[in-house]
Amino acid sequence: MIVCVCNNISDREIRQAMELGITTMEELRRDLGVATCCGQCLSCAEDILTKHLTSTPTAAIEETVLKRPVFTS
Ligand code: FES
Repeated sequence: MIVCVCNNISDREIRQAMELGITTMEELRRDLGVATCCGQCLSCAEDILTKHLTSTPTAAIEETVLKRPVFTS
């Protein structure tokens, strides 16, 4: 499924990037361009990120929360 239409990024690509070590939205933005244009994909990408991280050790989740940027509209 395409998550980010603007950059043609799928949920599979997001999960693959996370398997390679990405743990934050900032890193998804930087490395894949997710949510860097219209931003409509942000909540879906965050859901994928959260679901993936809930299956990882607690330390990784805590690190992600601490590194999560604050977005303003
Ligand atoms: S759909 Fe991802 S930035 Fe537009």
